[in-house]
Amino acid sequence: MKVLVIGGGAREHALCRALSLDPDVTALHCAPGNAGIAEVAELHQVDALDGAAVARLATGLEAGLVVVGPEAPLVAGVADAVRDAGIACFGPSREAAELEGSKAFAKDVMAAANVPTARSYVCTTPEEIDHALDAFGAPYVVKDDGLAAGKGVVVTDDVTAAREHALACGRVVIEEFLDGPEVSLFAITDGTTVLPLQPAQDFKRALDGDEGPNTGGMGAYSPLPWADPKLVDEVMESVLQPTVDELRRRGTPFAGLLYAGLAITSRGVRVIEFNARFGDPETQVVLARLKTPLAGVLLAAAEGELAGLPPLNWRDDAAVTVVVAAHNYPGAPRAGDPIEGLADVAEQDAPHAYVLHAGTRLDGDRVLSAGGRVLSVTASGKDLTQARERAYAAVARIRLDGSQHRTDIARRAAEG
Ligand code: AMP
Ligand code: GLY
Repeated sequence: MKVLVIGGGAREHALCRALSLDPDVTALHCAPGNAGIAEVAELHQVDALDGAAVARLATGLEAGLVVVGPEAPLVAGVADAVRDAGIACFGPSREAAELEGSKAFAKDVMAAANVPTARSYVCTTPEEIDHALDAFGAPYVVKDDGLAAGKGVVVTDDVTAAREHALACGRVVIEEFLDGPEVSLFAITDGTTVLPLQPAQDFKRALDGDEGPNTGGMGAYSPLPWADPKLVDEVMESVLQPTVDELRRRGTPFAGLLYAGLAITSRGVRVIEFNARFGDPETQVVLARLKTPLAGVLLAAAEGELAGLPPLNWRDDAAVTVVVAAHNYPGAPRAGDPIEGLADVAEQDAPHAYVLHAGTRLDGDRVLSAGGRVLSVTASGKDLTQARERAYAAVARIRLDGSQHRTDIARRAAEG
C-alpha cells in the first residue's frame, strides 16, 4: 500500500515512523513534512489546506491511503476532497471535524448525546460574558469558539484577564472549572465501530509544576499507572460511542481519530474538549506502545471495516516524550537556530530513545529550528522511571540556543 501523510509536526513524524515500520506499506510520502520525516518518507510541497491540491498529489502518487494529521486541513474539508477523488482517507469530513472546529458545536453534540462535560454558556456580547463569568465564579475558564492551536483557552483567577480574553474572541465559550487530573483518550472509528487506544497524559502548561501559559503540549506519557483500570471501558460507554452514534444520527458520521480530552473529577469523568485528529504530543507515546501495524488499522477505519479487525496489540513498555521548544514559545518563537546533537542521540540512545521532529527544516546538511515546538524526544522503558531517564538523557544531548523543555514530564506518575 502507498500512503501519503499530510502535515509536518512531531505527530506526523510519529505516524510516519510507525507506518514506515509496517511491512504492508510499500511507499511512504509526506507533505509538507519536516527535516526528520525526510528520513522515513519522500517529501512533497503542497498547500495542506487546499483539498484539490492534496487530492491531485495523492492521485499522482497513486496513494491507496491518505492520512490527514492536523485539524486545520480537516476543518477545511481536505478529507472530503481526497475521498471525492476515490482515494481512501483517514480523517473526518469537514462537517464532522466541527467537533474540534467549534467548541459550541461540540457542546451541542455532547448535550444531545448525554455526554458528561462542563456546564457552559456560549457568549457573543459583553453582557453575556459578564453574566457567564459571574455565574461560574473563579477559576474562570474562557475558550475561543474556533481553532486556536491549543492557545485559545485561558484558565485564570483574574476576572479582568478572563474578560479581556473573552472580549478578544468574538464568539466564546465560558464554562465551569473542572478539577482533577487530565487524561487524553484516542479512539479510531469508522463512524460506527469505535476502537479505543491506550490513555495518555499531556502536559499543557509551558513550565514545570504546571506553571506558565497553555501551549500545544510540552510532553506526555503512557500508560497511566494511577488510573482506574476500568477507565477506558467507562469512557467508551459514556463518551466515545455515544458521540460517534450522535454524529452518525445527524447524517455527518465521524470517521477518523476521535480525541477525548478528559478531566477525572470527584464527580466522575467529564469531557474538556474533543479533537478530530491524533493529539500531539500524546501520539508519540501511544504509537510507541502500539504493536499492531498501523496502516491496516487506519485503512479499515477509512473504508468502514473496523468491525472486522482483530483487537489491537500493545507493548507492556512505558513511553515518555519530552518536547523541546524554541526560545520564547508559546509567544512569538525564534526560528532559524541550528540544532545539534541529533546524531549523538541516534548513536547513543537508539532504539530506546529517538527524536521526532516538529518545527525543523533542512538547510544544506544542517537542521534548523522552524517553529515553536521544535522536536520531541520519545523513549520507551520497562516502566515510566526508565522511560523518563532515557528520554531526558537524550534531551541533554540536544543543543538548540535558547531552547526550553519541562523537566517534570511523568515525574509524579513515575514516583507513584
Ligand atoms: P482545551 O483546548 O479545551 O483542551 O483546553 C486547554 C486546557 O485548558 C485543558 O487541557 C485544561 O488544562 C484547561 N481547561 C480547559 N477547560 C477546562 C475546564 N473546564 N476546567 C479546568 N481546566 C480546563
Ligand atoms: N495534546 C493536545 C492536542 O493535541 O491538542
